[in-house]
Amino acid sequence: MAYNLLKGKKGIIFGALNDKSIAWKVAERAFEEGAEFLLTNTPVSMRLGEIDELAAKCNTEVIPADATSTKDLEILIQAAMDKYGKIDFILHSIGMSPNVRKKLPYDKLSYEYYQKTLDISALSFHKMISICKAKDAINDWGSIIALSYVAAQRTLYGYNDMADAKSLLESIARSFGYIYGRDKKVRINTISQSPTPTTAGSGVKGFDGLMDFTERMSPLGNATAAECADYCITMFSDLTKKVTMQNLFHDGGFSSMGMSMKAMNQYNKSFDVLPED
Ligand SMILES: NC(=O)c1ccc[n+]([C@@H]2O[C@H](COP(=O)([O-])OP(=O)(O)OC[C@H]3O[C@@H](n4cnc5c(N)ncnc54)[C@H](O)[C@@H]3O)[C@@H](O)[C@H]2O)c1
Repeated sequence: MAYNLLKGKKGIIFGALNDKSIAWKVAERAFEEGAEFLLTNTPVSMRLGEIDELAAKCNTEVIPADATSTKDLEILIQAAMDKYGKIDFILHSIGMSPNVRKKLPYDKLSYEYYQKTLDISALSFHKMISICKAKDAINDWGSIIALSYVAAQRTLYGYNDMADAKSLLESIARSFGYIYGRDKKVRINTISQSPTPTTAGSGVKGFDGLMDFTERMSPLGNATAAECADYCITMFSDLTKKVTMQNLFHDGGFSSMGMSMKAMNQYNKSFDVLPED
């Protein structure tokens, strides 16, 4: 159901790879809610993924940009301004760890890869915000969202150096949220989403077990990508104008749980199969 929440609003959506991507669902919902926006991803992801199909659906175009490249970001943000004037929202839905991809554990990281993880998954957020601010690209009361994960606060097996990237990402939202809010009334938040079966998500070690665990632990169950898109839309809308510098958990309650009955039942079952001693 559409409510015209983003009618007249313009934006940029980073990170739609295929129809499982959280950014893909956000783009579909933003379009339904009346927004106009540019889509962007790396040239490689554009070739491997299906973003052109999404662009056709949303009556827009894709501008390639590697989010680690200041030059690419400048070209992209200028293109958005040429097309729309000032914009109102940005979604940063970008994450990648070469250490996770190469299955290097946290105590044996490649530091070269570690820097890439931080550059792609966190510093890119700082870069895009700082270019927007320098160009005065965002309207007053504009909204910038990045997607995060509870591994920024708590250690979860297998999440590796992405946990450090998410901590940095959330800190950038607070640090820049103060400056951009003070100077231009632009709000900056992160949404901390449940494990979600996307290309990036499924690359995390033990992902299926993790999803099952969080489903059992969360009173409302895991949040889907489509539900995450709904939340992003409210954060881009004028209904949340005074929310900034927050990490907003969108996880069915998982982050406040210690143990649930469903998880306890499953845990106890594991003892049934042990031989008595
Ligand atoms: N899937 C989950 O379980 C989960 C949970 C919480 C948060 N998140 C976060 O959600 C965001 C989106 O991930 P997703 O789950 O939709 O997976 P996804 O694989 O569909 O999206 C990740 C995107 O990052 C893009 N990307 C990678 N390197 C880039 C670069 N240098 N420049 C620009 N874009 C680049 C990829 O092309 C891809 O489109 C990520 O920040 C991820 O960490 C995911």
